[in-house]
Amino acid sequence: MKKVFTNAVKRIGILTSGGDAPGMNAAVRAVVRTAIYRGIDVVGIRRGWNGLINGDVFHMTTGDVAHIINRGGTILNTARSEEFRTPEGRKLAYRTCKLLGLDGLVAIGGDGTFAGCLALSSEYPISVVGIPGTIDNDIGCSHYCIGYDTAANTAIDAIDKLRDTMQAHERCSVIEVMGHRAGNLALYVGLATGATAVLVPERPWDFEKDVAEKIRSARLAGRTHFMVVCAEGAKRKEDGSLDNEKVGDGSAGQQVADLIRKELFLDPRVTVLGHVQRGGSPSARDRVTATRMGYFAVKALAEGKTNRVIVHQEGHITDIDMVEGLKMKNKLNADEQEVLEAVTGSM
Ligand code: F6P
Repeated sequence: MKKVFTNAVKRIGILTSGGDAPGMNAAVRAVVRTAIYRGIDVVGIRRGWNGLINGDVFHMTTGDVAHIINRGGTILNTARSEEFRTPEGRKLAYRTCKLLGLDGLVAIGGDGTFAGCLALSSEYPISVVGIPGTIDNDIGCSHYCIGYDTAANTAIDAIDKLRDTMQAHERCSVIEVMGHRAGNLALYVGLATGATAVLVPERPWDFEKDVAEKIRSARLAGRTHFMVVCAEGAKRKEDGSLDNEKVGDGSAGQQVADLIRKELFLDPRVTVLGHVQRGGSPSARDRVTATRMGYFAVKALAEGKTNRVIVHQEGHITDIDMVEGLKMKNKLNADEQEVLEAVTGSM
């Protein structure tokens, strides 16, 4: 016999916002299926917050989420909305909520998405729940964000391939990985690929100590090829704060390579992995985490909770206050840094 639920919400909207991450579709699927199971109506909002502003919406059925658990990207499309940052934009967004009778929203994205949730719910009576989805894994309150594992595996696969050719030619490779202003992805990938050196935004690098010395000791240990993993947001100590500068244009890796050429007389090749890291079929970890998070997001709304963010903490999925969650700053994994120090001496 079908269970009968008492729900605090009748109809919810779902959107994906910011950079897409593999596993977002699995989360959308879980939200839709869980909501329908509990007797809650679901409205899909296309193109992030812009869809809410423009009324770009559709009523969702389980058929809409069939065969998407294995697909990268997001069937809802995504965007970074400038208009939603303005009170006028949020007013238009709320008008759509009222018109459609939405009393809850699930937003999948990064901390910018959550800031949008909070702005809307502080101005208008709407319950919001955020699900962390970003390959950067840089949401301080959650140990894990949807997409990270798949992106890391994509980068690892590419670096393994690069290593083959670097080894054959006895060359040096500088690989720039994504992560925006966080080094989580670079650190993790550097560990997994046995990189010669790893450069992260959190620790501005010194050429002599963080690159030259690592390459030198690898050479002395008999290596004739070198793999330097550089986060797109990594900066040189001498350059000071680059916080307001654009990241991801390939200049971080190029700067390292130029110095390797000038100071060590090697002939490095730069590879910017770029957006390829955001695509592809999600890994088992991302599918399962996304499904669990989607389920808990609907449960939180159904129980009358608002301003919550679904987090992964110590292996458990739970929900915490979004305001408190956003105060928690992303930190590099201390264990991973310690291990990297020991195995490459590069931190
Ligand atoms: O936040 C995810 C991310 O892929 C970052 O790693 C990267 O800096 C940024 O998005 C790239 O954004 P865009 O897709 O707008 O170029």
